[in-house]
Amino acid sequence: QARKLFDYNIVLIGFMGAGKTTVSDYLSTMFAMEIIEMDQVIADREEMSIPDIFATYGEEYFRNLETNLLIEMQSRKNTVISCGGGAALRERNVAEMKKNGRVVLLTASPETIYERVKDSDDRPVLNGRKNVEGISELMEQRREKYEAAADIVINTDNKNVLQICEELVQRV
Ligand code: S3P
Repeated sequence: QARKLFDYNIVLIGFMGAGKTTVSDYLSTMFAMEIIEMDQVIADREEMSIPDIFATYGEEYFRNLETNLLIEMQSRKNTVISCGGGAALRERNVAEMKKNGRVVLLTASPETIYERVKDSDDRPVLNGRKNVEGISELMEQRREKYEAAADIVINTDNKNVLQICEELVQRV
C-alpha cells in the first residue's frame, strides 16, 4: 500500500450520514494515517454515549467539547479528523479546523442520507425528523455554513468509498 505523508490534517465535515466515518476509516488504512473520530473520543472521555451527553448536559455542553477537541488536534499532522455533523456550524470551530487542516465537505442528497441513517438510533439531532423532508430541511439550514467552512466539496451520491477517497486525495 502506498504510504503518503501529509504534513497537515484532513478534516472531514458534513451532514450525518454523508460518509465521514467510512471515508476516514478507508483513508487511514490506505495511507497509514492516524484517525480521530471526534464523537468517539468525546464519548470515551465522557464515558457516555452521544445521546446521553445531549440528554444529560445539553447540546451546548457537547459543542464546547467539540471546540476543545479541535484545538487539541492542531498539534497533529497526517491525521484524518472525522468531525461530528454539527462541528462545522460554529465559526470558532471552523477557524480552529483550518489552523492545521484541509477541510473537506462530504455531501449527499437527502434521499441518500435518509437511507444511510434510517436504522441508526444514536443521532439525537434527528429525533422527530428522521425522514427525507426533515433531513432536507435541516440540511438547508446548515448548507451555507458547511459550504463556507469547506476548502473542498465532494459529493458522495452513487460513489463507492474508493472513488471518494481517490477524488479526495487528488484534490486535497
Ligand atoms: C450531530 C452529528 C453527530 C453527533 C451529534 C450531533 C449533528 O455526528 O456529533 O449527534 O449535529 O449533526 P455524525 O455526523 O457522525 O452522525
